[in-house]
Amino acid sequence: MDVKIAPSILSADFVNLERELGRIASADLVHVDVMDNHFVPNMTFGLPVVERIIEVAPVPVDVHLMIEDPDRWGPGFAEAGASSVTFHAEAARAPVRLARELRALGSRAGVALRPATPVEPFLDLLGEVDMVLVMTVEPGFGGQGFIDGTLPKIRRTRAAVGEAGLDVLVQVDGGVSVETIERAAEAGADVFVAGSAVYGAQDAAAAIHELRELARGAHRHD
Ligand code: DX5
Ligand code: ZN
Repeated sequence: MDVKIAPSILSADFVNLERELGRIASADLVHVDVMDNHFVPNMTFGLPVVERIIEVAPVPVDVHLMIEDPDRWGPGFAEAGASSVTFHAEAARAPVRLARELRALGSRAGVALRPATPVEPFLDLLGEVDMVLVMTVEPGFGGQGFIDGTLPKIRRTRAAVGEAGLDVLVQVDGGVSVETIERAAEAGADVFVAGSAVYGAQDAAAAIHELRELARGAHRHD
């Protein structure tokens, strides 16, 4: 499986979203961060805006829910046509029910872990999801530094997916740049979210290309 680059529109110009989406047409996915000012100390946008993003985006939409009640709100994003909907393990009350609902609505289901949340309690449920998002910064803001202390968790997640023989993607989000992407890829990540590294570049397509080449070179599967 090839690596996937998912630029995050958190670092885009929000008043020109359609134009900003056009800049990343060569990406594999577009990552959309939904924040409610409760689960994280920041607020972005909700379902009505994401519905329009899904309609005009040139690539599939990867929704990252940083909200307190994903059980209630998550299915609406799947109904709207999100390619994947990722909820936080710390927030979901019934993660298996939610993941099944998202999949039944035609979306992929992802489970996200804050840097201090271990993956081990979720390993028996890997078959219920399509992706594990290992946060490589504390969620809430773009432009933070990559936390190297999350690399062992990326490795353990990749190893567990391999041992179980499952087709589950490992995603990393936060501080992914030309300086850090190879470390994450070498640890076993397959999907790389990059906000400031792509939208902060003059030429977003060139940034996507460079990140993809670096990730491909370092990527490994157990
Ligand atoms: C942070 C968000 C990220 C953010 C990453 O909580 O989940 O998706 O956009 O931004 P960078 O790549 O700038 O760290
Ligand atoms: Zn995110």
